[in-house]
Amino acid sequence: MKLRILFVDDEPRVLQGLRRMLYGMRNEWDMVFAESGEKALELLSQQPFDAIVTDMRMPGMNGAEFLAEVTARYPDTIRFILSGHSDQDLILKSVGTAHQYLSKPCDAQTLKNAVRRANELRKLLADESVSRLAKQIRTLPSFPQVYVDLMSELRLPDTSIQRIGEIISRDIGMTAKVLQLVNSAFFGLPRRVTDPAQAVSLLGLEVIKGLVFTVHIFSEFKIGRTAGIDPDQLWRHSMNVGRLAKRIAATSATEADISDSLVAGLLHDAGKLMLAANVSEQYAKLVEQAVEQQEPLFEVEKRAFGISHAELGGYLLGLWAFPDNIVEALAYHHEPSLSAAVGLSPVLAVHVADAIDHELGNASIGAGAQIDFAHLERLGLASELALWREVCLQELQEEGVRDEQASPVC
Ligand SMILES: [Fe+2]
Ligand SMILES: [Fe+2]
Repeated sequence: MKLRILFVDDEPRVLQGLRRMLYGMRNEWDMVFAESGEKALELLSQQPFDAIVTDMRMPGMNGAEFLAEVTARYPDTIRFILSGHSDQDLILKSVGTAHQYLSKPCDAQTLKNAVRRANELRKLLADESVSRLAKQIRTLPSFPQVYVDLMSELRLPDTSIQRIGEIISRDIGMTAKVLQLVNSAFFGLPRRVTDPAQAVSLLGLEVIKGLVFTVHIFSEFKIGRTAGIDPDQLWRHSMNVGRLAKRIAATSATEADISDSLVAGLLHDAGKLMLAANVSEQYAKLVEQAVEQQEPLFEVEKRAFGISHAELGGYLLGLWAFPDNIVEALAYHHEPSLSAAVGLSPVLAVHVADAIDHELGNASIGAGAQIDFAHLERLGLASELALWREVCLQELQEEGVRDEQASPVC
């Protein structure tokens, strides 16, 4: 079936250019062009679209207002912004409603890849209702304590960007969002940022304040609805897996794979947050079941939803334009043999790090995923496992020492 894509721009010249540039795609895409947000909404009311690519600065309804309407009325449409850098303030207003940013001028290949890739992610999710859930998510919920800390820090007259960065790096949802933003085409940075604290300092205090207070970019778990997930434990496990995956990757992977392993490890269980926030009651029961039966949570989830937190998290990060490496690492962190990656890839590093952290009892919701030894053998990496275990233990011991030094002796 052809993909239906709606392009919105008030400049007829731009629409003409897009039409010409994408002429070669006419067998794959049904393309419709609208010169205003109002006109686009009219078209949307007549027929559904798979994806929307919209300009920001438009007379009448601007792109941010248009996307807010689309998100409310047609949440399962994939939403791209195609805009110039001068539209920064407007783009920031649409942070919660756009999935991806493309910057003008945009060549045909970039646009084709972005749309194709977003569409291909669907394969990760067996069930339409689960993919609808993912597309509706504006942001991953934050745990109450971190949220409260961030709010009070931001309200201080002498707040510092370092402290804000430190708070944001304690939260999986906030980390995912700031990394998405700072690495988007909108900022056009020459290299990828993987450290949330650095992302926060690049965005700057004013932008962070605007995002928090005006756009409400971070949302908080409703009290008592964390669905059986212990915030501290999930945070610690995520941090551990990030650090361990990085250490494992550092034994032989490339620089880029090492930093992707860190980010993927930090975010690998992000799908749990999506489930806990959106289907809380059902999820609480599944968590209970996994604990009682000592069964891996992802298998209990699969039985209930057809997919697990792994695919769900991968899907969301894919929609948010995280690199394929990271998306894959999330999606297949329990079953690395499903990925086509070879060698010591981020998916493998995260898989092993996650299993080791489970083995050490640091992530105790149900039983953990086992290391897929047969897969390691097929990749010719089985003999590396002893070394990986060693560097992981070293990393955790070093961290233990750092923690002890940091905690006041009283
Ligand atoms: Fe997991
Ligand atoms: Fe995990």
